[in-house]
Amino acid sequence: MIQAIRGTKDILPDRIAEWHFAEDIFRKVSANFAFTELRTPIFEKTEVFSRSIGESTDIVNKEMYTFTDRGGESITLRPEMTAALVRSVIQNNLLAQSQLLKLWYVGPFFRYERPQKGRLRQFHQYGAECLGSSYPESDAEIILLAVSIIKNLGIENYKLLINSLGNESSRISFRNHLVEYLNKYRNSLSQDSQFRLDNNPLRVLDSKDEKDIEIISSAPDILDFLDTESKLYFETVCDMLIQCGIEYQVQPRLVRGLDYYSHTVFEFQSSSLGAQDSFGGGGRYDGLFAQLGGKSSGAVGFAMGIERLLLILENENLVIPNAEVTDIFVILADNNLIHEALKISENLRNLGYKVQNDLQRRSLKSQMRDANKSMAKYALILGEEEYNKGEIIIKNMSDSSQLIVSIDKITEYQFNIDR
Ligand code: HAM
Repeated sequence: MIQAIRGTKDILPDRIAEWHFAEDIFRKVSANFAFTELRTPIFEKTEVFSRSIGESTDIVNKEMYTFTDRGGESITLRPEMTAALVRSVIQNNLLAQSQLLKLWYVGPFFRYERPQKGRLRQFHQYGAECLGSSYPESDAEIILLAVSIIKNLGIENYKLLINSLGNESSRISFRNHLVEYLNKYRNSLSQDSQFRLDNNPLRVLDSKDEKDIEIISSAPDILDFLDTESKLYFETVCDMLIQCGIEYQVQPRLVRGLDYYSHTVFEFQSSSLGAQDSFGGGGRYDGLFAQLGGKSSGAVGFAMGIERLLLILENENLVIPNAEVTDIFVILADNNLIHEALKISENLRNLGYKVQNDLQRRSLKSQMRDANKSMAKYALILGEEEYNKGEIIIKNMSDSSQLIVSIDKITEYQFNIDR
C-alpha cells in the first residue's frame, strides 16, 4: 500500500464539515472588515522566501521544500504567505491603484518540520495583511480581525501575547546588549542557541531549552531599549486594544521566528494544544517591500494554523454545526421507478434542497437505513402503487409521520428545512 507522505494528512469526508465551518467564518469575518481575498501560486522562486524570512531562520535554514526544476531554477513550496503576497502586490502594482490594501488568504503551506500533533509538513493557514499604513490603528485593526475570527469560531479560552521589536535603531541597540549578555554564558547555552547567538541573536530568546530559559530570564528586556518613537507606537497600539476591550499580555521575550518584523509582534496561544500551543501570530513588517524590490510601505498582518484551530475546537468539545446533512432522501420500492426518482430529485435540487438517491439498487430496508444514516430530515418513498396513482409518500424522519401527496405537487410542498 502506498502511504501519504509523513506529516501530511488527508482531510476525510467525516471531518470536512469542520473545514467548511471554519472557511465560512474566514470569508464572512474578512468581509466584515472589508478585506478581500488574494490567491497566489503554491510555489515561488526560492529567493522570495530566503530574502524575506531571513537566511538564518529555522524556516529558511532547515524547513523549506526547495528543489531545482527541469529548467534549472530553484523553486520552493511556500512555507508561509506574507513574502509571496508582497511579491504579488509588487509585481501586480496593486498598491499604486489603491493606497491601502486589505487582503486575506487561506491555503496549504509546507515546512519540513518534525511531525507531531498540531505540527505537519503540509498544513493550512488563514491569514490577513493590511498594506499601505504605518499607523498603529492598522496594527490594532489586524489584531481585532484575528480576535473576531477566534471568537466566531467559538474559542474563548486563549491568550494574546504582544511585544514590540521597535524600529531598526532600537533593535540594533538591544541586539548589541543582548549579545554582550549572552556571550558571558556562551558555553552554557545549548548548541542551537550558540549557533543563533552568532547568526540571529534575538532568536535565542525563543529557545525551549531549560538551561537557556534560565539564562534568558535575566537577559536585557527589549522594551527597555525602545526609543521614544517606538515606545509611543507600542503604547498607542496597546491603548487602542484596551479601548476595544481586547485582553492581552505584554511578553517582552516574544520575538517570533521570522526576520521581517519590526515594532508590533503578537501571538495567540491556547493551553489545550499541548507542546504546539501557538495557533497564530503576526506583526508589522515595514521593511519587507523594500527587501523584495518594491517601494517601501507600511504593512502588518497575521496568520493562523487551521489544523491547530480545529484541534482547539475538538479538544474543547466545541460543537460545529454540520451543514453537510441531507435534506431529503428519495427511496424506491421498485427499481423500475429510478427514472422518476431522478427526475423528482432534480426538481427538488433546483429548489435548493440537498437531495440523495439510492444509486446501488438496494432493498427498501437498506435504503431506509441509508436515509437514517444520512440524517435526512425527510424521506420520499416512491412505491409502485403510489406511482400508479401519481402519488408519493413524504415521511418526516424526526417524528415518523407520513403524508401522501401528488408527484406533480412535490415541488410546491413546504418542507420544514432551513436554507
Ligand atoms: P508563523 O508563526 O510561522 O507565521 O505561522 C503562523 C501559524 O501557522 C502558526 O501559529 C501555526 O498555527 C501555523 N503553523 C506554522 N507551522 C506549522 C506546522 N508545521 N504545522 C501546523 N501549523 C503550523 C507566519 O507564517 C507569518 N507569515 C504570519 C504573518 C502574517 N506575519 C505577518 N503576516
